[in-house]
Amino acid sequence: MTVCLAISDQSIADAAALLQVGKLVAFPTETVYGLGADATDAAAVARIFAAKQRPAFNPLISHIATAEAAFALGQKTPIAAALAAAFWPGPLTLILTRHAECPVAMLTTAGLDRLAVRVPAHDGAQRLLRAFAKPIAAPSANPSGQISPSRAEHVVKGLDGRVNLVLDGGPCENGLESTIVDCTGPGARLLRPGGITRDALAAALATAGCNPEIDTANPLDDGEKPVAPGQLTSHYAPRSSVRLMAKTQEANEELIGFGSVKGAGKLNLNLSPSGNLIEAAANLFSMLHAADAIHAKTIAIAPIPADGLGEAINDRLRRAAAPR
Ligand code: TXA
Ligand code: MG
Repeated sequence: MTVCLAISDQSIADAAALLQVGKLVAFPTETVYGLGADATDAAAVARIFAAKQRPAFNPLISHIATAEAAFALGQKTPIAAALAAAFWPGPLTLILTRHAECPVAMLTTAGLDRLAVRVPAHDGAQRLLRAFAKPIAAPSANPSGQISPSRAEHVVKGLDGRVNLVLDGGPCENGLESTIVDCTGPGARLLRPGGITRDALAAALATAGCNPEIDTANPLDDGEKPVAPGQLTSHYAPRSSVRLMAKTQEANEELIGFGSVKGAGKLNLNLSPSGNLIEAAANLFSMLHAADAIHAKTIAIAPIPADGLGEAINDRLRRAAAPR
């Protein structure tokens, strides 16, 4: 059975105790809710894959309380140091080469010698990480391939009975997953666009005296293992079909608006009536969930500009619309 508790000293202590014995705890971060387990305990991590029915090749992010603790797990390259100083704690995940003595289970990194690590800023996540005092492996807390959860009730809806405890910290501020940057090579490589924009990354690298050029990964260019398997084409998929670049509503459609394109259908949703991309990112998954929940035949979505956070929003939308 899944218990959902508001964040308090008691629920944080309960959550840490559950993690300690290999159980699953969903917790809020400023991006989306994570489905957490002890990252150093492969059996606990296996329960994450089972609960999400996640393809086993897809590695997980290890969450940890401080940058210092993160660099005890993986190698601190100049690029990683610059980005950590600028954006941690925050919605940024760095790919680092694992240290030989790194205690994170190999299952967490799906057998890769590279580790994804993130220091979240969310107060509830920080309290849990400090109480547990070990890295917490956590993918987004949704069944594999479905929409990421930006509220505790999304987690309960998708994973009821498959997670022991959900810590309810209210809606996530960003509502979009973290930006992922591979720091293991000579230059920074963007594996997944997210809450921190490409321009912000480049500016931080320039300030630190690093090469500010940011390479974009081809998600399938790493031999047999995708470098960021979350980048597989059909991902973030609602049950309804999805039509992009919609300016008007067609029959049986739930149109999610943006800016001057007004929402239409049963819910009249608009990602941001004022055309604000930060607001749109925060609303994205909630609105997809809402339209999916009323069994709309097709979810139509207004055009979203491609600049800034629009890159990550359009990336998610293309995946939601991909043939499956
Ligand atoms: O905002 C977020 O990042 C949320 C919160 C909970 O932290 N987490 C999240 O996790 O979105 P997940 O598992 O849904 O997406 C993690 C992505 C996947 O695409 C995975 O393939 C990639 O990170 N990844 C993880 N470890 C990796 C590694 N060692 N090398 C390359 N990509 C990796
Ligand atoms: Mg995910």
